[in-house]
Amino acid sequence: MNGAPRTVVLVSGDGSNLQAILDQCRSGALDIIVVGVISDRSAARALERATRAGIPALTVDYSAAGSRSVFDTGLATTLADLQPDLLVLAGFMRILSTELVEKFRGRMLNVHPSLLPKFPGLHTYRRALEAGERDHGATVHFVIPELDAGPGILQYRVPIRRGDTETSLRERVRAGEHLIYPRAIAWVAAGRALLKDGAVWLDGVRLEQPVVVHE
Ligand code: GRF
Repeated sequence: MNGAPRTVVLVSGDGSNLQAILDQCRSGALDIIVVGVISDRSAARALERATRAGIPALTVDYSAAGSRSVFDTGLATTLADLQPDLLVLAGFMRILSTELVEKFRGRMLNVHPSLLPKFPGLHTYRRALEAGERDHGATVHFVIPELDAGPGILQYRVPIRRGDTETSLRERVRAGEHLIYPRAIAWVAAGRALLKDGAVWLDGVRLEQPVVVHE
C-alpha cells in the first residue's frame, strides 16, 4: 500500500471499535483514510458515529436484500464506488462471500473476542467461562474464507478472575480491543505487517504466534 490506505469499515452494531479507530486517526496515531462505513443494518449506532465524524455512513440492508446473493452484490457495488485498499471488520455480523474475501486477501482485518484459535464463532465469553479457562481476550487477524481462522497479528490477553461474569469479561476485553485494533491496522497500513504464505510477517519476521499484549 502506497501512502495512507483508503479504508472502509464494516459494522453491524455499537461501533465502539470504529470509534477507537476514528479517535486514533484524529490523534494522528493511525495513518489511514476512512472513506466510508458500511452497515448491514440501518439502526446500527456505528453509523451515527461515522456521521458525527463526517464520514459517509452507508447501509446495505441485509434483511431488505432478501437473499445472500443480492446482499453480496449490493455490498460489492458499494465497495466498488468507495475503492478501498483496506477493509476493516468491526463488529460486522455477516459472513462475506468467498469472492470478496479472496479479493481482499491480506487487506482485510477482523477483531474477534477470543484468544484464537480458541472459541471461533459466537458467545465466546460464556464459552470461555463455562470451559473454566484461565484467560480470555481478543485477536486481530487477517480474514480468510474460513470463519475466524485467519492468522493472528495482535492479541490482547486478560486473566479470568474469580467472580467474572460475561459482562465484566466483555468490558475488560472490549477495552483491550480498542487498544490493539488501531495498532494492528497501523502496522498493516504501514506495510509492517503482512500476510504471506498463510502466515503473518511483522517487520520481515514470520510470526509463529500473534504478538501478545497483557491487560
Ligand atoms: C467486538 O467485541 C468484536 O470483537 C466483535 O464484535 C464486537 C463489536 O463491538 N467482532 P463494537 O460494535 O465495535 O462495539
